[in-house]
Amino acid sequence: MPSPVTPSASSTPVATPSPSLTPTTTPTAKPTQTASSSPSQPAKPAADKRKGRQLDKPYTVDGVIVVSKAHRVSATYGPPHPTGPYHLDATAARALAKMTAAAKKAGVRIVVRSGYRSYATQKAVYSRALRNYPSEASAKAYNAPPGASEHQTGLSMDLWDGVTWSLPMANTATGKWLHKHCHTYGFILRYPKGKQKITGYNYEPWHFRYVGVDVASQFPTSNTLTLEEFLGLA
Ligand code: DAL
Ligand code: ZN
Repeated sequence: MPSPVTPSASSTPVATPSPSLTPTTTPTAKPTQTASSSPSQPAKPAADKRKGRQLDKPYTVDGVIVVSKAHRVSATYGPPHPTGPYHLDATAARALAKMTAAAKKAGVRIVVRSGYRSYATQKAVYSRALRNYPSEASAKAYNAPPGASEHQTGLSMDLWDGVTWSLPMANTATGKWLHKHCHTYGFILRYPKGKQKITGYNYEPWHFRYVGVDVASQFPTSNTLTLEEFLGLA
């Protein structure tokens, strides 16, 4: 288990997503599978050779955006059509609103703790973590350096019940519901347990990534598969 550190909170306010976000089922990412490739074993993706201004756009595999320590973006990159109080990608925001409404019907409260974070915000989050975490290693295990955070895509969000944060979030009704149902709405748990060597981060039961229903529905509900493995990057 990770050490009992408190991962960084966002600079965004705690509130439920805007009710004005209309739910739809349209995914942003629709990877094309060739007849010879299976969903779990895609062909080896093209190497990420971007540099300079090319980093203004993210690395993609079969149309799926990948931002990580290995696939960074420049300070100018952000969601093309940010929307709502968390400046999320518009499609991700609609999917989140739909998921939040479904959870509410089941008596479960989903609260956004962090949505889009700019390069500058991530820089501040990272610096703060380096100052406040018990060790440099633990800060880096839960916080991406600027340019390497998926939050800069507007496709990722940290979710909780508004009460119980950090690792115990996984055992709340909200955590359990999200882990079971997120795929239905196009989300995956981005940093699964025991996959630190692949993702670069410790288990984050709160960090969800929108990949679209077509992709998310191919992930096991056990939440044991990483995006890197799915895309053939690991
Ligand atoms: N907590 C994740 C890794 C981030 O900082 O983007
Ligand atoms: Zn996160």
